[in-house]
Amino acid sequence: MSRSRVLVYRELPPDQLARIRAEHEVTLADPSLPEQEAAFFEALGSASGMIGALYPVGSSLLARAPALRVVSSVSVGLDAYDQAALAARGIVLCHTPGVLDEAVADLLMGMVLAIGRRIPELVEHVRTGAWARHVEPDLYGWDVHGKTLGVLGYGRIGHAVARRAALGFGMPVLYCARSPRASGLPGGAARQVSLPELLSESDFLVVVLPLTEQTRGLLGAAELSLMKPGAFLVNAGRGAVIQEDALVRALDAERLRGAALDVFVTEPLPGESPLRTHPKVLPLPHVGSATHETRHAMAEMATSNLLMVLRGEPPLAAQPVRPQP
Ligand code: GLV
Repeated sequence: MSRSRVLVYRELPPDQLARIRAEHEVTLADPSLPEQEAAFFEALGSASGMIGALYPVGSSLLARAPALRVVSSVSVGLDAYDQAALAARGIVLCHTPGVLDEAVADLLMGMVLAIGRRIPELVEHVRTGAWARHVEPDLYGWDVHGKTLGVLGYGRIGHAVARRAALGFGMPVLYCARSPRASGLPGGAARQVSLPELLSESDFLVVVLPLTEQTRGLLGAAELSLMKPGAFLVNAGRGAVIQEDALVRALDAERLRGAALDVFVTEPLPGESPLRTHPKVLPLPHVGSATHETRHAMAEMATSNLLMVLRGEPPLAAQPVRPQP
């Protein structure tokens, strides 16, 4: 089998890099680092495969990649890729569904607990030396167990969160999905409802939607105003599903008690974003899948996808090629 050129545009663990090097010529270049941008575009000119994440791949980039056959994303979300442009060129777009569900669900429950029980504020209270006597009600949190958890986006991750909430924390679970979907949990533990019902009944609303034309800006002022007064919003899907200015207004108006956000419209979060320092926001730097084990599993799956396509085999997970109009 002839060796092809592969462009690795985000760091990969050494064992996965070695798998690629065993079959192909590798160039490492991260285009988000100014000093590596030129090397990235030079390598793109002869690359048959690309592997990496979180860099926009659209038609202008593809025009500079005449030999490209596969883009293997070390992510489950594919919103950084112009899927129509890839499909038009017959380039296979692979991703890593399944291996990160439990890690993201762990973090989501952590965010629910952290914001409900005010863990970051309490840590700060101790660290700054303010803990001089017992904690007064102004620093009490709110119960998590027994509260209603709503899941917006009931895919694999949504189900993993629902399972933790229902079986571990005794939380009644509501979920909203585009089509009728069984909860996959013991009878009565979770119930499918409409979006307005989900918004108005959830104490903790967990958003795990991918970013698509249908979900962009889905939660704006009107939807947030339907949320239960004093509810918490938790997002680890994609930032642009929530209209950030409307969220800030809902928090300022004390309509919502708080928001825990792992994803934002612009990442890294710009210095001037009010979400960075808002006292009712718990911001995280997009780390849903960022554990040693899970990031390695994602890299391994993405590497397998890349190698399989270059060998002419079907990959483990590829985005179905959309029919062209
Ligand atoms: C993370 O956000 C992913 O899409 O894998």
